[in-house]
Amino acid sequence: MSLPSSLYHAIEKILDAQNLSGIRQARRVLTQRYHDLAKEKISDASFIPQRFQDVSRTKHDVRHPNSLKDEGHMGNDAGRLSYLATRMPATYEVCLRVLGALSDQANRVTSLLDLGAGPGTVVWAAQDLFPNLEQVTLVEEDRGFIHLGTRLFDETLEKKHMTWLNSSLKDAIPFQPHALVTLSYVLGELSIADQEYIVNAGWEATKEFFVLIEPGTPRGFERIKQARHQLIQQGAFVVAPCPHEAACPMVDKDWCHFSQRLERTSLHRLIKEASLAYEDEKYSYIIVSRNPLHDSLSRIVRKPRHGSGHFILDLCTRDGLKRLIVSRKTGKLYRMARHLEWGDPGPKLDDA
Ligand SMILES: C[S@@+](CC[C@H](N)C(=O)[O-])C[C@H]1O[C@@H](n2cnc3c(N)ncnc32)[C@H](O)[C@@H]1O
Repeated sequence: MSLPSSLYHAIEKILDAQNLSGIRQARRVLTQRYHDLAKEKISDASFIPQRFQDVSRTKHDVRHPNSLKDEGHMGNDAGRLSYLATRMPATYEVCLRVLGALSDQANRVTSLLDLGAGPGTVVWAAQDLFPNLEQVTLVEEDRGFIHLGTRLFDETLEKKHMTWLNSSLKDAIPFQPHALVTLSYVLGELSIADQEYIVNAGWEATKEFFVLIEPGTPRGFERIKQARHQLIQQGAFVVAPCPHEAACPMVDKDWCHFSQRLERTSLHRLIKEASLAYEDEKYSYIIVSRNPLHDSLSRIVRKPRHGSGHFILDLCTRDGLKRLIVSRKTGKLYRMARHLEWGDPGPKLDDA
């Protein structure tokens, strides 16, 4: 099982007694919308999915989770329940992998501002990685998601100091400063102009690290690349995946993305109407910091390939994209290459 078992059981409990065929139907609609969105031209990027927009919104409605009442969306929020069962496991795994790049800096992550929090996915990953995390703020405009997220935390977690802001991101600006600020699978739901505005405000609120994650599609990468350019212009240092702040060498039809495998639980398979026991979630991301801190000198940007007596590693380096052929004759490096995966920091080139 990929999710923490306590979270999985809390999701199972929420889905129990729900109309599974309604959730499956909502899942089909959700998948179709994601596919349509992935195919959308970058220039048409102001489309915002309508899937969660059946709820009333309150601007600047700031409340503690325990004060949120059941507002009756459980009976007709099949889209959100389908997100819980089929998307949250994938976004959780990706967040865990991406935030893992900060594990050496874990003691600096004392507070978290999660923008577009959905059911609180990022917090679940962050609390596994950052033991000093004390204060968490989640901004989410969808009241139904806040309700579900609150239930998940109530059922399971040791309470941190958590505050949900029921607000659109724009209306919540200026954000309060936090050590770590995250935007996970949100940029694609914003217009380009709003993205620029929100990325700017997110960076202003960042005391240490700002993490942005999108689906690993050309469109998702384009959003990350735009944000990367903007943040570097504002003085941010890239922690990962890029080992430099120079212009991104991924051009034309190339896009920088990675892949995270996750096990599908029986509930996940049931709602997704899928038989395979796992899936590979593709993602693009960037982590920037207030201080210079690259986590590597190169990054493996394609799945390593194994030929006869050699490995082929495609790397992003400070000198652009490079292909490294690691022959069996290199001994130590060849043995090391056997364990390297797509997305890992690459070997030092002078080891070759
Ligand atoms: C795809 S979900 C991602 C949820 C979560 N961050 C995750 O990684 O699983 C996108 C979330 O962003 C929220 N969102 C999108 N645009 C928003 C905005 N302008 N203001 C506040 N929330 C927004 C949506 O309501 C939704 O919950």
